[in-house]
Amino acid sequence: MPGASNPFSLEQIRDFWTEQAKGHGQEAAASWSDLRVMEMEVREILPRLAEGDRVLDVGCANGFSTVQFASQKKIRIRGVDYIPEMIEHARERAGSMGEQLRGTVEFAQGDITALGEPSGAYDKVVCIRVLINLGDWSRQLLGLLECARVLKPGGTLLLSEATLQGWRRLNQFRREWGLPDIPMPPFNQYLDEEKLAGELPGGLKLVEVVNFASSYYVGTRVLKPLLAKAAGGGIDPADPTMEWNRWFAQMPAWGDYGTQKLFVLTKQ
Ligand SMILES: C[S@@+](CC[C@H](N)C(=O)[O-])C[C@H]1O[C@@H](n2cnc3c(N)ncnc32)[C@H](O)[C@@H]1O
Repeated sequence: MPGASNPFSLEQIRDFWTEQAKGHGQEAAASWSDLRVMEMEVREILPRLAEGDRVLDVGCANGFSTVQFASQKKIRIRGVDYIPEMIEHARERAGSMGEQLRGTVEFAQGDITALGEPSGAYDKVVCIRVLINLGDWSRQLLGLLECARVLKPGGTLLLSEATLQGWRRLNQFRREWGLPDIPMPPFNQYLDEEKLAGELPGGLKLVEVVNFASSYYVGTRVLKPLLAKAAGGGIDPADPTMEWNRWFAQMPAWGDYGTQKLFVLTKQ
């Protein structure tokens, strides 16, 4: 099955993120080039955070999303990432935010598969595009279990991840129109939604799946490359900074074509 195994070793994945941190500093691109999806993730997660919540943002990178949560909600948020350079940049970012922050924010080094956080301490755990960097399901499960462990009973895990099912459906749509499959990046192993919907240990239960980026993916990964081809060159369909992307990011999400989805899980 194409892309079903992860060609990067765990060491290569770590090196990749170190290079991203060094190369991009505080830019959003340290996390991903597609800024619009990152904005949509914040938009989807924000209403699910309540004033006064204690929140852990695991795999926070340089804190791009973390500080947005803290600037829009009066929460106590702690971001952790296993790359020290990411944490350095996150701290610089938070330091320069000053009075724009409504809540409090702090950052520390931490690995999602062995968090140095106390059990049952958080109302919410946010995990954005982190499990897909863990190589395989057994390690993804370890990450999920750690998120569950640090949540209070009744707490919520807000998980935004790329899925195998979303990715395959999108490529199916592309194939109908003669477009080649989008490959899975070599540092990723997308999440299997069926496993997430099955029985999960750690008291986690999947309560909602939000296809928040479906219209955006169809607009930018199917319609845009076709139009770019019809326009006869000169347009890079992969350029996420175009108005086209901004427009589709504002559309209601129709369908289930988004590679990226939000999963809401509660801890029993
Ligand atoms: C795609 S970025 C996501 C960044 C951030 N969550 C956001 O909203 O933009 C993935 C991040 O996960 C981090 N990461 C990967 N494996 C990790 C692990 N085992 N423990 C902690 N962080 C990890 C990487 O260093 C990187 O900063």
